[in-house]
Amino acid sequence: RQLKIDVITIFPDYLAPLRQSLLGKAIERGQVEVAVHDLRQWTDDVHRTVDDTPYGGGPGMVMLPEPWGRALDAVAPPDGPGRPRLIVPSPAGRPFTQALAEEFAAEPWLLFACGRYEGIDARVAEYAAQRMRVDEVSLGDYVLAGGEVAVLVIAEAVSRLLPGVLGNAQSAVDDSFSAGPDGLLEAPAYTKPASWRGLDVPPVLLSGHHGEIARWRAERSRERTAERRPDLLG
Ligand code: ADE
Repeated sequence: RQLKIDVITIFPDYLAPLRQSLLGKAIERGQVEVAVHDLRQWTDDVHRTVDDTPYGGGPGMVMLPEPWGRALDAVAPPDGPGRPRLIVPSPAGRPFTQALAEEFAAEPWLLFACGRYEGIDARVAEYAAQRMRVDEVSLGDYVLAGGEVAVLVIAEAVSRLLPGVLGNAQSAVDDSFSAGPDGLLEAPAYTKPASWRGLDVPPVLLSGHHGEIARWRAERSRERTAERRPDLLG
């Protein structure tokens, strides 16, 4: 196995798509192992409480440290073999990028902690950092209801980088944002038919002139990047 993925969440069903598609095939082939754990199994009251009001006041609820501490100790025992990299999705995290996906893809073991509500008591990450690497990671500048969807996104971005998981080993190398030569957005792509509903494929792509095609794609890349993501042109 190349990668073990553990997820701790109060909505285990939300993670069902992890077993579909690309990751599902990697699981079938034994390249990836996925285990989803219900945080509520580590609560100790009849109501299986996982949250409480924030100290200092304010809206919403904060996830209790006790269930999280027990969950982390059970899934990644302090005296067990190896240590996972703990990933905590949060709008307050550092931005998730292709470079971070590549870093995660080089790890043998990823443990995701899904917070809901207004987050997890901050001491949980502090405690975990005493024995594993902890990254709070944000998908972008918008707020989701919880970390579950972020786990699906991160797991997919990571798993398609695993050697032998993607059908075509080259396409991961050429993607927008990969550590390619220019770091620009990809040029637009076309396939058959050459004319469709009055819209024609740019003739240069049908010309067979590889030099001109490469030049055309480089120009479109630059154009697109300038228009949509000027921040990438540095
Ligand atoms: N949880 C809530 N919002 C999030 C975001 N933007 N990225 C990652 N996790 C989140």
